[in-house]
Amino acid sequence: MSNSIVDVIKMEPIQKIEVSGWIRSFRANKFISLNDGSCMTSIQIVIEPDNFDTNTINELNTGASIWVSGSLVESLGGGQKTEISANEIRIIGKSNPEELQKTILQPKKHSLEKLREQAHLRIRTNLFGAVFRIRHHMSFAIHKYFNDKGFFYIHTPIITGTDAEGAGETFRVTTLPLGEKDIDVKNDFFGKPTHLTVSGQLEAELAALALGKAYTFGPTFRAENSNTTRHLAEFWMVEPEIAFADINDDIDLGEDFLKYLIEYALNNCEEDLNFLNIREKKEQQQLPKDQRNELSLLERIKTVSENKFERITYTEAIDILLKSKPNKKKQFKFPIEWGIDLQSEHEKFLVEKYFKKPVVIVDYPASIKAFYMRRNDDGKTVAAMDILFPGIGEIVGGSQREERHDILEEKCEEFNIPKEAIWWYLETRKFGTVPHSGFGLGFERLLMFVTGMTNIRDVIPFPRTPNNAEF
Ligand code: 4AD
Ligand code: MG
Repeated sequence: MSNSIVDVIKMEPIQKIEVSGWIRSFRANKFISLNDGSCMTSIQIVIEPDNFDTNTINELNTGASIWVSGSLVESLGGGQKTEISANEIRIIGKSNPEELQKTILQPKKHSLEKLREQAHLRIRTNLFGAVFRIRHHMSFAIHKYFNDKGFFYIHTPIITGTDAEGAGETFRVTTLPLGEKDIDVKNDFFGKPTHLTVSGQLEAELAALALGKAYTFGPTFRAENSNTTRHLAEFWMVEPEIAFADINDDIDLGEDFLKYLIEYALNNCEEDLNFLNIREKKEQQQLPKDQRNELSLLERIKTVSENKFERITYTEAIDILLKSKPNKKKQFKFPIEWGIDLQSEHEKFLVEKYFKKPVVIVDYPASIKAFYMRRNDDGKTVAAMDILFPGIGEIVGGSQREERHDILEEKCEEFNIPKEAIWWYLETRKFGTVPHSGFGLGFERLLMFVTGMTNIRDVIPFPRTPNNAEF
């Protein structure tokens, strides 16, 4: 098998080396820029045209895949330490230059929208290569963090009969024929209504109440018809759950976890992050001064790892917002009053203008949060917490769970959650119930923060959004 370019660029000159990859460019009939996806860097292949037959030379087009054998030599040109002086080249897969003109592989600047339309090819660009390599490293870091801390990875079901969040924004799962009305769900595959899960939390709780510390990391689905830059219909969520832990333990875990992930990116994705940092700087220069980010991507990332997150209650947040300049000048679109769900304009103000660092808000009104959150002694609020990030807004949502059987039953009634549907969840509160807590991190929101991409569709390989399920 060929060597990966990520390894080759670190090697000292050597007589014989083999690489395979896709041609990024071929210029002056002599220099091939070859990329194999293993890293951002493309290696330079130098050929002596007289040593190769014209058929081969004619097929050295952008996009074609080739195998090269040659020696790794010190580079005469600037820009790279070594290059490959080719002895043999095999064309593996041709690329037609005329047809290539119609694709985003054509080497010129393409809009992110255009790149999205060709998601099957955009992975081959420097930008998306960087994003998806970082996505991999972040997934790995999540498993590493929890494994090192003694958490067990639990696979929670994708098909479910319960709606954890109680918001009803679910995709139905059925084998019943299309278009037939009034069919008895008893005849459906599962004998009851089922849908794609919105969260693995309820099952992760069952695991934590047996294994102590558990987490799930998988796809979740929401049919909210909000076509925003921060919502997907299919997204990945990381959900840890810890037994014998209260809301403060939960926030501590969330803060430690996010800082770990961000430091992991800084230590393991240097080349890709530097590329994204420079890209963002260039993009920013196109914008009017007042619309530019105050900090660069790398500076923003470091602020999170270096600062303690601000912790405030929902009631304090409302007070700050009420007294704020934009509120006095009536600049908020959504009016502020105790009891409202904070809108992204409010979160933005708190994080980016007021505290200028990540903010954790705790103790939300019970009426705007899910049924399973633990009722506080004031009777009005629940032990919920959201972590808000600059440029992103809510990145984590979590809570201490209601562990008291009688109160949980009351909450089910209040929220119209049929007890028959979650008898198993209630039963864990009958046999050795314990205070326990957990949260959900939106994996793509984390990736937006780390990569600086401003549309969530650009941090998942094949986004699923309203009217969009191509690829
Ligand atoms: O706040 P949410 O809805 O919380 C839950 O689902 C809990 N069951 C989690 C838990 O306590 N185990 O979602 C958690 C996070 C949000 O903070 C956000 O980052 C992300 O998931 N998220 C989405 N990301 C992309 N597209 C969407 N439609 C999202 N909805 C939520
Ligand atoms: Mg939430």
